Amino acid sequence: MKVTVAGAGYVGLVTSACLAELGHQVTCIDVQKEKIDMLQSGHSPIYEPGLEVLLEKNLRKKQLHFTTNPQDAYSETDIIFIAVGTPEKEDGSADLKYIHVTAHTIANYIEQDVIVCTKSTVPVGTNEIIQHIIDSRKPPNLKAVVVANPEFLSEGSAIIDFFHGDRIVIGTNDPKAAAEMEHLYLPLQIPIFKTDIRSAEMIKYASDAFLATKISFINEMTFICENVGANIEEVAYGIGQDKRIGPHFPKAGIGFSSSCFPKDTTRKVIWRGEKNYDENY
Ligand SMILES: NC(=O)c1ccc[n+]([C@@H]2O[C@H](COP(=O)([O-])OP(=O)(O)OC[C@H]3O[C@@H](n4cnc5c(N)ncnc54)[C@H](O)[C@@H]3O)[C@@H](O)[C@H]2O)c1
Repeated sequence: MKVTVAGAGYVGLVTSACLAELGHQVTCIDVQKEKIDMLQSGHSPIYEPGLEVLLEKNLRKKQLHFTTNPQDAYSETDIIFIAVGTPEKEDGSADLKYIHVTAHTIANYIEQDVIVCTKSTVPVGTNEIIQHIIDSRKPPNLKAVVVANPEFLSEGSAIIDFFHGDRIVIGTNDPKAAAEMEHLYLPLQIPIFKTDIRSAEMIKYASDAFLATKISFINEMTFICENVGANIEEVAYGIGQDKRIGPHFPKAGIGFSSSCFPKDTTRKVIWRGEKNYDENY
C-alpha cells in the first residue's frame, strides 16, 4: 500500500520505518526542514533502539521517503497517518492546532480517495472534527474516511511494541475502511479490536490513566513497605497472583513522567475535545 505519515516525531518515525519494513511504500512528511534533511541522509533525530537501522535500510531500498512537500506526500496515497504533536496547553487541555493544520493540508492536496488514520492522542470527538475539516474542503468527488487508531508504544521499546504490541485498536463506522486497516496490519498478527471512533479515542486515555494509576499505586505501596519493613518485590508478586490484579506490575520508581502520562491523565484533556475547534485554523 502507499502510506503517508504526517509528523516525523517519535510516533511518526517509528510508524514510518516499521510500515516500510513491512513492505509498504511510505512517505513521511514534516514541517521542520532540518529534521527532514537529517532523515534523508539516514540519521535519526531521536534515539530509539533499532530505529536508525530500519531507517537506513528502507531508505536504501526506496521503501521510505522523507519530504516537506505536501503535494508529494498527500496527492497519491492510500492511507494517511496523522502523528503530529498534541501538547498540553496552559489550562491542561490538548492543543489541537497541529491536528487542524494537518487536516486542512490533507484536504487541499488529496487527489484520490483516502483513509485518514489518527495516531496522535486526541480528545474524544476530535476525529469527527478532523472529518468535518476534510469534508468541507476536499474536492467533492473524493472520499476521505477518518479512522481513529491510537498509539500505545513506549519510548525505549517502540520498535518491539510496533511489531509485538498487545492489540491494535481501530475506531471507525466504515466497514470498508476497517477492512483496509486490518489488511495493512495483517502481517503483524497482533489482535485487532474494531470499535466506534469515540470508544477508540477513549481507550487511549483510559489505558494511560490505568497505567499511571498502577505506577502511582506500586510507588505508594513501596513507601509503605519501606516504613513497615516489608519487601515490595514479594508484595508485588503476592498481589499479582490474583487474576483480578495480574502479575504485570511496573517496578517501583520515582513516579511517572514520559511524554504521554502527565498530559493524558488530566481530565480537561478528555472532556474538552469538541470545544477545541477554532474555525480560524
Ligand atoms: N511519544 C510517545 O511515546 C507517544 C506514544 C503514544 C502516543 N503519542 C502521541 O502521538 C502524537 C505524536 O507524538 P510524538 O511524541 O511523536 O510527537 P513529536 O513532538 O515528537 O513529533 C511531532 C512532529 O509533528 C510535526 N508536525 C507538526 N505539524 C505538522 C504538520 N502540519 N505536518 C507535518 N508534520 C507536522 C512536528 O514538526 C514534529 O516533528 C501525540 O499526540 C502523542 O501524544 C506519543
